[in-house]
Amino acid sequence: MAFQYNLPVSRCPDGSSPRTTTNQEIALSQDKQFYSTFFAIMGGLAVLAVILILIATNLTTDVADYKPEEVVVENIKPVGKVNVAGESAPEQAEVAVVETAAAAKSGEDIYNGSCMACHAAGVAGAPKLGDAAAWAPRIAAGMDSLVANAINGLNAMPPKGLCMTCSDDDLKAVVEYMVNNSQ
Ligand code: HEC
Repeated sequence: MAFQYNLPVSRCPDGSSPRTTTNQEIALSQDKQFYSTFFAIMGGLAVLAVILILIATNLTTDVADYKPEEVVVENIKPVGKVNVAGESAPEQAEVAVVETAAAAKSGEDIYNGSCMACHAAGVAGAPKLGDAAAWAPRIAAGMDSLVANAINGLNAMPPKGLCMTCSDDDLKAVVEYMVNNSQ
């Protein structure tokens, strides 16, 4: 579509006096104004759209890298692994750490749960944890005697130190923990 503008001029090319601006000319002038504003806004929106697309693309990069299978496999992997002799050392080191932690846990945990009530403050004449003088004569009697007294009770010391779920081995571990920390 070709536009023909007959804009008002102050003097006509042939020297005749200027004529009055027609309605058609006013309409064309207004159309021109409309188109320039319209395309300016459309251009601005197009640029904005491109910027938004770029931002959105960057934001979703992580989602594109998201691999559900790997996450699921990681989440459901077994907590323990069987070590076959002669296979990778790192696996064995890992297992060793877990075992040490578990062993260290039992003695101290049982003490904190059952024995501390009396042995922390020395209730009813209980030898206090860390009181070397109180423990020395008892330790001198030997580990077997200490463990047997812990299992069977001794005077105000109740059988099993009130840890009814403890096995003899558990009690031995706690007594070792107490002795080791009372020398
Ligand atoms: C109700 C208080 C009380 C609790 C709980 C208690 N003890 Fe005792 N314990 C005593 C008293 C009192 C003695 C001192 C007994 C005595 O020599 O007359 C004692 C002594 C001992 C001795 C020394 C025994 C000996 O041969 O001299 C050991 C070992 C011991 N307790 C271990 C434990 C362990 C392990 C626990 C927890 C599983 C525990 N006790 C919980 C009160 C308690």
